Amino acid sequence: MSIFAPLFLETMENEKQLRSREWFGENDKMGFVHRSWMRNQGYPDDLFNRPVIGICNTWSELTPCNGHLREFAEIVKKGVLEAGGFPLEFPVMSLGETIMKPSTMLFRNLASMDVEESIRANPLDGVVLLTGCDKTTPSTVMGACSVDLPTIVVPGGPMLRGDYRGGFIGSGSFNWIIKEKQKTGGITPEELRHVEACAARSAGHCNTMGTASSMASMVEALGLTLPGASAIPAVDARKKTMAWLSGRRIVEMVKEDLTLSKILTRQAFENAIVVNAAVGGSTNLIIHLLAIAGRIGVELTLEDFDKIGSKIPLLVNLMPSGKYLMEDFFYAGGLPVVLKELAERLHRNAITVNGKSISENCEAAECFNPEVIASMEKPWQPEAGIAVLKGNLCENGAVIKPSAATPHLMKHRGRAVVFETMEDYHARIDDPDLDIDEDSVIVLKGVGPKGYPGMPEVGNVDLPEKMILKGVKDMVRISDGRMSGTAYGTVVLHVSPESAIGGTLALVENGDMIELDVEARRLHLDVSEEVLRQRKVAWTAPEPMATRGYVRIYVDHVEQADKGADLDILVGKSGSEVTRDLH
Ligand code: FES
Repeated sequence: MSIFAPLFLETMENEKQLRSREWFGENDKMGFVHRSWMRNQGYPDDLFNRPVIGICNTWSELTPCNGHLREFAEIVKKGVLEAGGFPLEFPVMSLGETIMKPSTMLFRNLASMDVEESIRANPLDGVVLLTGCDKTTPSTVMGACSVDLPTIVVPGGPMLRGDYRGGFIGSGSFNWIIKEKQKTGGITPEELRHVEACAARSAGHCNTMGTASSMASMVEALGLTLPGASAIPAVDARKKTMAWLSGRRIVEMVKEDLTLSKILTRQAFENAIVVNAAVGGSTNLIIHLLAIAGRIGVELTLEDFDKIGSKIPLLVNLMPSGKYLMEDFFYAGGLPVVLKELAERLHRNAITVNGKSISENCEAAECFNPEVIASMEKPWQPEAGIAVLKGNLCENGAVIKPSAATPHLMKHRGRAVVFETMEDYHARIDDPDLDIDEDSVIVLKGVGPKGYPGMPEVGNVDLPEKMILKGVKDMVRISDGRMSGTAYGTVVLHVSPESAIGGTLALVENGDMIELDVEARRLHLDVSEEVLRQRKVAWTAPEPMATRGYVRIYVDHVEQADKGADLDILVGKSGSEVTRDLH
């Protein structure tokens, strides 16, 4: 018999019909076409009878945080082959947070479309998502949810600690003091270059509990990774082991038909909210988790984040809320320790990708460094999480991260100093004649989903130079934008409705008084309804920022922040069926 002959025809006929059989299972013209061209890559015949596992790779040299994922795909393939699957890697749009302009958030939904259509259109039975940098996790999960095949996530892992002058340096944490240091003569250009190299000294994503680490923790808390996967540094050999084992496991998941919707229940989402609070995670999680819930069809609201997460204690001592970095978190035991501590607050029976419940997975977890992971009895803070604000300035809500804010500003009344756009801010913020003091409230408009467009991470704008020189460390800032997960300050974000569509934020004028009361969950513009009505009549919408292409589609269809900023035409799922054939 020829080595190219079909060796396993009988077995394939006895097995449960795999989705990939519709491509590779027929001995007709189209079966010939589907298999024949694939054979030019040297695949033996029996591989076409196996479960086909798509390895969805966000590797890109333009996404430095995911630069090692090309190698990781090869490791996943070993596991898939070993377990009897047929691995096929495919690239999808990758979103490099520190490189792409104007904002990766503008492209999250586009990348999710790429993932969704790439999965559905191809002969895949299961999917492994290789993720890392901030948006590469939610975009791939969102896309996969809209198809709903068995899916496992392999988080790429954080960088090693930054090491600068004998001390730790966290990704992004230096960004927020560069302006201050430059203004006060505290750093030379040469030293700046030196810090850059010290801060990013290994493969991996940001090593603080910023957005990427929050997203990795989120997928583990949702049950979409093998236990303990999220905190392992990218360059630790155990990360490769995790990738290998994930390759093995996805083949079993296909056989068990363990699809995303069986794991992503309402309970799983509630667990993710609790965990994000306990690890001091990013405010960006709100927007991404809402969007993922919208895709898979689970009811989740902005208010849920406050209701479920705001009374959860902070257990993890990681930057930006604390002192340590992801590498330390891993050595201390990682997320399973946090999950075990949180047992009473979690839905313990929520199922995960390995087929076990989240509590079964963390039974044996042990904390090896209580300086990094605290107990529920002695947390770092009694209450963490996100506070959801309401009031006439944010009728559909706004958010603030109390653990990153300055306590005395959490209840504050101040005079608005308004910037109509980001460009306006840059043009005037350091003007010595700017009428501003430390009690003022900086209001930034035009940075919401439609307005920028793409809702960039600019909400934590730098303070005016004259305030920095005066020694002021924090001021209340309000915008319809987001902020980096590595940022801190008394920063009110995600104001909805945004200014570009005529939300009350659009009507704020210099000198208006604004009241922030985090404890009462209130954000109020102290201007009479009648005056606001008159201003609304006089208000004109800004010119749209794009007339064609994807950005036009985005602006026309993007939802507000309180709904997850997905495109309205992408919410929900269409499943994996393809009704029309390739003729
Ligand atoms: Fe990629 Fe922070 S810039 S994870």
